[in-house]
Amino acid sequence: MNYLQNSIKRFLFDQGCIETYHHCMDVGNYAYELGKNFLAEPYKAKVAGYLHDVSAIYPNDQRIDVANKMGIELYKEELEFPMIIHQRISRKIALNEFNVTDLTILSAIECHTTLKEEYSDLDLVVFIADKIKWDRKGDPPYLAGLVKALNISLENAAYYYIDYILNHDIKVIHPWLWQAYLKLRDNLKFT
Ligand SMILES: [Fe+2]
Ligand SMILES: [Fe+2]
Repeated sequence: MNYLQNSIKRFLFDQGCIETYHHCMDVGNYAYELGKNFLAEPYKAKVAGYLHDVSAIYPNDQRIDVANKMGIELYKEELEFPMIIHQRISRKIALNEFNVTDLTILSAIECHTTLKEEYSDLDLVVFIADKIKWDRKGDPPYLAGLVKALNISLENAAYYYIDYILNHDIKVIHPWLWQAYLKLRDNLKFT
C-alpha cells in the first residue's frame, strides 16, 4: 500500500495537485476505517479512495477532450457540467497508469461523485467517505445529518446526502445520481 501511496503522490505532485493528494489519502484512510464495518475486504475501499480524484491533473476545461480521447461516451449532463466527468477519468487512470484491474474497485472510483443504480457496499463506502472528508475547508453543511443517517445504514447515509444536494446547490442532475436516488428510495421504502 505504501508503494501505491508513493506513486500517487509522485503522480499528483508532478502536476501540482498537492491538495488533491492529501484529500485522496484522507478519503482512502477514512473509507478503510468505515469499510471495516461493512466490507469483507476493506482494503479495496482504501485503494479506491486513494485513487478517486487522480483525474484532478486535468482541469475542467480539458475534461471533455480527455474523455473523448479515452473513449468515454459522455452524457449531456456531463457536457453541460464537465466537473462530473472526473470520476470516470479517474477510473481510466487507475486502470491504465496504476494497473488497478479489480472491477469492484474501478466501479467505486467511477461512481464516487454520483453513485449509480446498481451500487455495491464498496461503492457506498467510498461515496460516503468522499462526502464526509470533502475537499473544501471546514465541515460540510450536511455533516451532522449524514453521520446520523450513517448510524442507521450505508444506504440511509447515501440517501440522506443525495436528498440534501437535490434540495440545495446541485448544478445538473447526472442520470446515475437520479437512478441511485430512486433505487435507494425504493430499497429504504421511502416514498
Ligand atoms: Fe471527486
Ligand atoms: Fe473527492
